[in-house]
Order: sequence, then C-alpha cells, then structure tokens
Amino acid sequence: FGKHVKYYDEVDSTQTVALSLVAEGAPEGTLVLAERQTAGRGRMGRQWHSPKGKGLWMSMILRPKHIPLSFTPQLTLLVSVALCRAIRAIVPVEAGIKWPNDLLIGGRKAAGILLESSAENETLQHIIAGVGIGVNLEPDDYPPELRNVATSLFIEAGYRIDRVELLCRFLLEWEQLYALYHEQGFAPIKLLWEALSVSLHKPIRCQTAQGLVDGYAEGIDELGALAIRLQDGTIRKMYSGDVEFR
Ligand code: BTN
Repeated sequence: FGKHVKYYDEVDSTQTVALSLVAEGAPEGTLVLAERQTAGRGRMGRQWHSPKGKGLWMSMILRPKHIPLSFTPQLTLLVSVALCRAIRAIVPVEAGIKWPNDLLIGGRKAAGILLESSAENETLQHIIAGVGIGVNLEPDDYPPELRNVATSLFIEAGYRIDRVELLCRFLLEWEQLYALYHEQGFAPIKLLWEALSVSLHKPIRCQTAQGLVDGYAEGIDELGALAIRLQDGTIRKMYSGDVEFR
C-alpha cells in the first residue's frame, strides 16, 4: 500500500478523486491524499471538516479478490483495527474503536472511516476506503458544534504528531491485516477488533435507517454486524448505523 500515491493541495473530496482513478484502472493500493478538502464527506450524509495541513485526509483504492458484497462490514472493521493500532503505536493515547469504525480517545472522536464500494453479481469490484484523521488540529480549528465531540491527536498527546510517520505506520498495519484477511478470513481480525472496541458489553442506542434501536451490545458476528440484545431477549443484528452509549 502506498506505492502509488496521488498527492493534492486541495480537492473537493479525496473519495471523488479516487472514484475517477478507479474508472481509469488505478491499481489496488493507490492512495489519494490531500492537504485540504472543500467538500469532505462523512458517514450518513454528514460533512467532514478537513482544514489545510492539520490532518490526514485520504482515500485508498482496494480491489479485493473474490470477496462477496455481504463481507463489506468486515473490511470496514479491518480498516479501523489498522488505524487504531497505528495511532496507539505512534501516539501515547488509549485509542478505542466505537462500532463500526469511529476512532475515539477519551470519548471524543479523533478519526473516522467511510467505505464506498461497487459490486457485480454480489461480488465486490472495488472499495474506496476514506479515512480522515484529526492529527494536529487545535481546539480553535473546530467549529463550535464539534468542540465537545471531536478531538485530535495533538490535543490528546499535547505535542505535534509527525503525519508522515503516522501515515507510514497505518499503511503498514493495513497492508499486513489485509494480507492476513485474504489468507485466514475474518476470524483473526474480529479478535483484534473486539480487543480494541469500546462499544461492546454496554447498553447502547443504535440509530439506523429504520429508526432507533435500544439494547445491549453483545458482540459482533462473523460478518462484522453488531449483535444487540433487545429488552425482550431477542438479538437484532446491525450492519450499519450509529451507536450512542446510554
Ligand atoms: C465518518 O466518520 O463519518 C467518516 C469520515 C471520513 C472522512 C474521510 S476524509 C478523506 C475521505 N474523503 C472524504 O470526503 N471523506 C473521507
């Protein structure tokens, strides 16, 4: 990963740039990086605040081999494990993963992941994995509505973080986990994810396209879905959504 890097000063969204490179046949592992995004996108239609030079705003092109579309959540969790391991290796902070793939430090979000994919005959063709890491943002860099919910590695560590060092470690962790996934499947990734998770074994509220679900986070299944035990004891599986702690 990272052998083919496209680096821009400013783009609307690295996701959009990566999608046009997919159409041109860019190989797996192609990375699009930008210093600033003018229209960064988050999950569930949200905007992603991406000020100049303060973060790592990137999109990676993946072309997984013979992976069914239903396995997409597994790959989402894989990226969050790689990111969490990289952050923990470079920065002395207790980073954890909030299902499915928010990176939290002290309860506040420091990074997010957005996977966009295409499939043919229920088999994945390509994935554009967008990752936004708030590396050196200072409190004043955040709009007021984000100040209580977002943080950066700089704010948590108390000193500036070398973005290139973090990026290299992340790409290394990611490439290794991706190879492990193709060799051994999701089981080892699931174990790593569970060990880094801050969402499990807690009462949670999950916001989905179908509405709110309250329950107890039991675990994740072999597809990467979150299993929630409802009040009546039945289990409901979530493949995407937003989790809040109750
Ligand atoms: C989320 O937590 O909602 C996901 C945020 C993903 C943000 C990254 S920044 C690089 C890439 N380009 C985008 O427009 N979004 C992703």
